[in-house]
Amino acid sequence: MHTDARLARLSTVDKAALTSGSDFWHTTAVADVPEVMLTDGPHGVRKQAGAGGLGSLLASEPSTCFPPAVAMGSTWDPELVGRVGVALGEEARAMGVSVLLGPGINLKRTPLGGRNFEYYAEDPLLTGVLAVAWVRGLQSQGVGASVKHFALNSQETDRMRVSADVDERTVREMYLRAFQRVVRQARPWAVMCSYNRINGVFASQHHWLLTEVLRDEWGFEGLVVSDWGAVVDRVAAVRAGLDLTMPGPDDAGDRALAQAVADGGLDAATLDMAAARVLSLVDRAVAAADPTAAYDVEAHHALAREVAARGIVLLKNEGGLLPLPQRGLSIAVIGEAARTPRFQGGGSSQIVPTRLDDALAAITAATTAAVTFAAGYTMDGAADDKLAAEAVEAARSSEVAVVFLAAPHETEGADRETLDLPADQLGLLDRVAAANLRTVVVLSNGAVVLTTPWDRTVPALVEGWLGGQAGGTAIADVLFGQMNPSGRLAETIPLALPHHPSFLDFPEAGHVRYGEGIHVGYRGFDAREQEVAYPFGFGLSYTTFSYGAATASTVEDGIEVRVPVTNTGDRDGREVVQVYASLPVSRVRRAPRELKGFTNAAIAAGQMVEVVVHIARSDLAYWDPQLHRWAVEAGDYVLTVGASSRDLRASVTVVLDGDDTRVPLTGDSTLGEWLNDPKGAEVIAQAFAEAMAGGGGGGMAAMAADPDILLFLSNVPLRRLAAYPGSPVTPEQIDALVARSFP
Ligand code: BGC
Repeated sequence: MHTDARLARLSTVDKAALTSGSDFWHTTAVADVPEVMLTDGPHGVRKQAGAGGLGSLLASEPSTCFPPAVAMGSTWDPELVGRVGVALGEEARAMGVSVLLGPGINLKRTPLGGRNFEYYAEDPLLTGVLAVAWVRGLQSQGVGASVKHFALNSQETDRMRVSADVDERTVREMYLRAFQRVVRQARPWAVMCSYNRINGVFASQHHWLLTEVLRDEWGFEGLVVSDWGAVVDRVAAVRAGLDLTMPGPDDAGDRALAQAVADGGLDAATLDMAAARVLSLVDRAVAAADPTAAYDVEAHHALAREVAARGIVLLKNEGGLLPLPQRGLSIAVIGEAARTPRFQGGGSSQIVPTRLDDALAAITAATTAAVTFAAGYTMDGAADDKLAAEAVEAARSSEVAVVFLAAPHETEGADRETLDLPADQLGLLDRVAAANLRTVVVLSNGAVVLTTPWDRTVPALVEGWLGGQAGGTAIADVLFGQMNPSGRLAETIPLALPHHPSFLDFPEAGHVRYGEGIHVGYRGFDAREQEVAYPFGFGLSYTTFSYGAATASTVEDGIEVRVPVTNTGDRDGREVVQVYASLPVSRVRRAPRELKGFTNAAIAAGQMVEVVVHIARSDLAYWDPQLHRWAVEAGDYVLTVGASSRDLRASVTVVLDGDDTRVPLTGDSTLGEWLNDPKGAEVIAQAFAEAMAGGGGGGMAAMAADPDILLFLSNVPLRRLAAYPGSPVTPEQIDALVARSFP
């Protein structure tokens, strides 16, 4: 039966009930409409038994714990991330889950973000491209994605109340851009609104965000679901465009909605629309459900291993210490984290894995040489001299020391206080590095940790992130060269926390000011010419690549950049070819370089391939704050091809025709603005000439021939200039001048 007809048979109270959950994880069954299940989360299916709830947060059915987004983001490989989406879809379907609450695509604005491990990158293009792949993969299995957290939920501190205070250009270009891409290109079944306020208004009640932007501009046709507990006022939320409030039940809210319809406070059609969207989602879910579905646990573990290995970033490898030979060198494996892996973060994404690999076992299995293990430290951060002394001895008596260091537990709900690794671990590293010159450090962390100055004391450094359930084996794959590392940083590693562009603006008194504006992450480091420890886009390989000259051509919907890249080493490898755009002459402030395209290319040893990077014209657009719309500015775009944001190998300039970005002139436009506009300059020149011919303001008009005088007057709005005695334009003339300034 048609949705409208089915809705017509429901009472207002039933319609209201459809728009709230029946428990923690299910929609409400009403009349012949069944309930469906929505559950977390971005890197695994966290299905809780029964009604779920806070009391059973950590109890869920086993499922594959894929690497969290921090590791997936570092793969820079949409094809691979898409395969994770497919696998998650298979697991969700087999577990009777209709909607998976992910991906998380907030930008990593601050490195302190407690949930950075759940987000991909500090760049909206990289985030968006990967998220599109994830959503398409998941939804290909008949399971819906719920893209979250919409929007501006880039830190955990005070997340349920804080107002993100931010200007529209920054919102559009940085914080909404990945959402826009995913909505347009992958059509997710759902979007989850965030907890926080945006410029004072709760996201769950934000009409501009949920209706004007999401639906009217982007054409979103799916369901808007609340983050769990984000709704403060059901009526205001439904009015703003929110469809489903979770969790439930919320009988009082349902009644309030029905009452609001009865007394005219809420349009009946608005509630109908929300209920209809829930109905459509349920219909889709029911049509796709397959009680016979199953998935291959072993194959998914293997995929988790592949993704974890591909996300590992080799930061340093002096003298080619890595890869280690599988026969030969005796190894001291040091650090409790080698035996007790930190493989995921805490909170709603926490998975009970089907299996769990640890690096110690994987290393032991991978080598024929002697392996000595020493815990070195405990995970509680208290220094332990005895453990440290044993570790130093193991390092001294082995040919290589591999030291596993782990950041303290990271979790949803709380931000980190520091980027430092625990002092006891760093103290231990000092001693081990002194005892064995061949020391390799392997990091486990969900967001960046400071690597300076201790990284200077070791020849090799491997960023292993939180690698999911197969992360331990993936580390061994990279250490012994079974996998040639190709991960790239999706976030800058700073030299110190205060260097970070976000540093001065952290939540305080209910507000977090996004003071760095569009200069998030590497954009801010580059704009301030700040040194960093390891730049965005950086990562080494066991082979080397050389770049030839780049060429670019305009194609129908953008630009195609081509660059020959040669694998100059003796191992097959992958190079992530990144293209950054700059527009040196622009009417708005721009970051020195912005990532506009990338290609992840597998290149066999000794081979050359021509790598093609496609840049969509829409990705070159900026948000014009005066015109309140996207526009591509005309100009000479410098496209720089890099192996990282600071390892730029080739560049090519492309001249682009722009969209019309002329801002209409008014009486409030300054003399400078009038003169910068070709038509405006003509009109003013004429007015000044008339004044000179006819006396009146002629004196001042004549003076304006002097560039110094013009400069002095350049910031005076025309109407205010007219008010001065002796002005060459009169207040009565303004309307006519404005009319003549239209092309
Ligand atoms: C989180 C969401 C999650 C939801 C359901 C919230 O606390 O912010 O990401 O999907 O809980 O567990």
